[in-house]
Amino acid sequence: MTDDVVIAPLDLAARVDDALRVQAHAFGLSEDEVAVRRQIVLRHLTYPGARAFGATTPDDRLVGFVYGMPNSRGHWWSTVVEPYLRSQNLDGWLDDSFVITELHVHPGHQNRGIGRALITTITEGVPEPRSILSAIDVESPARGLYRSLGYADLARRVLFPSAAKPYAVMGAPLPLPKRS
Ligand SMILES: CC(C)(COP(=O)(O)OP(=O)(O)OC[C@H]1O[C@@H](n2cnc3c(N)ncnc32)[C@H](O)[C@@H]1OP(=O)(O)O)[C@@H](O)C(=O)NCCC(=O)NCCS
Repeated sequence: MTDDVVIAPLDLAARVDDALRVQAHAFGLSEDEVAVRRQIVLRHLTYPGARAFGATTPDDRLVGFVYGMPNSRGHWWSTVVEPYLRSQNLDGWLDDSFVITELHVHPGHQNRGIGRALITTITEGVPEPRSILSAIDVESPARGLYRSLGYADLARRVLFPSAAKPYAVMGAPLPLPKRS
């Protein structure tokens, strides 16, 4: 990984505005969407086992972050994807699974290994034997990264009520492979 960026545990509640700025640049969020996400992130951080890692520059600018938590079938995300997975007999992936909820790297710092470092670091040492996530169902750097880490498609064309574009749900065994 180039840059003097440091990957370390992140107090996401304290840095939520910095994180959402990164997400707004990386993913494209309107101000209204940022305000909604802010409440969602702060709620997620109260869930058992929620953890976050950040990528920061030497002058403490946050340029990337990831957060996630052990899945619960009661979580909103899980209730949306469950019927898609169940129809393929794959809903067992919702149990004993660590969900990657968000992963974003500021465009000025992408393609230097930061995203890979964030997701491999956050999943290191979690007790769950597998990980799941959703990503917009198009070929993208995110989908390429996830596939290269062993995430395979569990469901395609998944529709979230609030999202215009369909998503793919992907799952991988843990631990994720380290870069050789
Ligand atoms: C997805 C994202 C977090 C990856 O972060 P990153 O720091 O740029 O990723 P890395 O440099 O660690 O790249 C890792 C892999 O991603 C893939 N990748 C990165 N940029 C890519 C590109 N432009 N085209 C295709 N694949 C690409 C490659 O598989 C790469 O593997 P390599 O190391 O063998 O080249 C970042 O692109 C991002 O923030 N995108 C916008 C927001 C987003 O889509 N978030 C995910 C929501 S599900």
